[in-house]
Amino acid sequence: MKYRRLGNSELYVSVVGLGTWVMGGVWWAEPDDEQSIAAIRASIDGGINLIDTAPAYGYGRAERLVGRAIKGLRDKVIIATKCGLSWDEKGNITNNLKRESLLREIDDSLGRLEVDVIDLYQVHWPDPNTPIQETFETLEEIRQSGKIRYIGVSNFSVEQMEEARKFTEIVSDQPPYSLFQREIEKEILPYCRANNIGILAYSPMERGILTGKFHLDGVIPPDDLRRGHPTLSPKQFEPTRRCLSKLRELAEEKNTTLGALAVAWVIHQEGVTSALCGARNVRQALENLKAGEVELTAEDLQHIDEIVREWEEEIK
Ligand SMILES: NC(=O)c1ccc[n+]([C@@H]2O[C@H](COP(=O)([O-])OP(=O)(O)OC[C@H]3O[C@@H](n4cnc5c(N)ncnc54)[C@H](OP(=O)(O)O)[C@@H]3O)[C@@H](O)[C@H]2O)c1
Repeated sequence: MKYRRLGNSELYVSVVGLGTWVMGGVWWAEPDDEQSIAAIRASIDGGINLIDTAPAYGYGRAERLVGRAIKGLRDKVIIATKCGLSWDEKGNITNNLKRESLLREIDDSLGRLEVDVIDLYQVHWPDPNTPIQETFETLEEIRQSGKIRYIGVSNFSVEQMEEARKFTEIVSDQPPYSLFQREIEKEILPYCRANNIGILAYSPMERGILTGKFHLDGVIPPDDLRRGHPTLSPKQFEPTRRCLSKLRELAEEKNTTLGALAVAWVIHQEGVTSALCGARNVRQALENLKAGEVELTAEDLQHIDEIVREWEEEIK
C-alpha cells in the first residue's frame, strides 16, 4: 500500500481508503454487521489506514460499526467522519450546519465511534440555510477544543470552498470521481491542486458498476440506489457493456480486476490523494485494496481515456 500526505495536514493516508456507506444499509441491499466488521479489520490488515464514515450512513449504524471494529487498533487508523446531515424519527434527512447542531453532532459521533478525537471532520453537504461563516467558525472552535484534528468538506463548489477557507483551514475535499463521473476535472480538481487541498474521491467504482458485475457477469442489480443508474437503462446498457469489456481486457493484461483498474485510474489522477472504496465483505475489501498496487503507465492511462471517451460519445 502507498500513502500520501493529505493536503497541508500531517495525515498520511493510504491511496485506497475504506468507505462505509454500504455498511449502514438503508440505501443499499441489507449488509451483515459481522461481515462489515470483518471487512474493516481485513482492510486495516491489508494496509488501509483511512476509514471514511458518516452519521447519516444508517443513522449512526456505520459509525458504531467502525467504533467496534477498531477497538485496540486506534493507532492504526485515520478516522474521517462527517457532519451536517440530521434526521428525524421518521428517518427524513435534512441539511443542518447550524452551530447548535454541530456542537451536538460532534459529541454524538465521538460517542458512537468510541474515540476521544476524530482525525478528519468533513462537512457532508453544503447547507443553503446556514451562512458558511457560522459553520466554519464553529468547526474551528471544535478543532481548537481538541475533539477534531483537521477539517474537510464534501460536495462543495469552488466558491463554497473559497468562502469556507476565510474562517478555517480546509485540508481536503470529498467529491465523486470515477471513470464514469468526471465532472470535477473542470473546476474542483484544478482548484484543489492549486491550493494543496487533498482529494478523497468517492464512488470510484461508480457504486459497483465499474466492477463489471452487472453488465458483464449477469449479476442482477439489487433493488437499491443503483436501480435507476443510467448505465443500466436500455439506452446505455450495451455501450456500457462494450466499454467495460474493453477495460476488463486491459485489466487482465495488467493482471488485475476491472474494479481495481478503475480505482487505480482514479488514484493515478494528479491531485487525487486517495480513492474511497465501499466494501460489504472481506472478499470485496481484499480485492479493492489491490488497486493500491496497480501501476498504470502514461500509455495505459491514455488507452483507458480513449475507451471512456468513446463510451461518452456513444451514450450522448
Ligand atoms: N461524501 C459523500 O457525499 C459520499 C457519497 C457517496 C460515497 N461516499 C463515500 O465513498 C465511499 C465509496 O463510495 P460508494 O460506496 O458509493 O461506491 P463505490 O466504492 O464505487 O462502490 C461500492 C459498492 O460496490 C460494490 N463493490 C465494492 N467492491 C466490490 C468488488 N470488489 N466486487 C464487486 N462489487 C464490489 C459493493 O456493493 P454491492 O455489494 O451491494 O454491489 C460496494 O458497496 C462510501 O462508502 C462513502 O464512504 C461519500
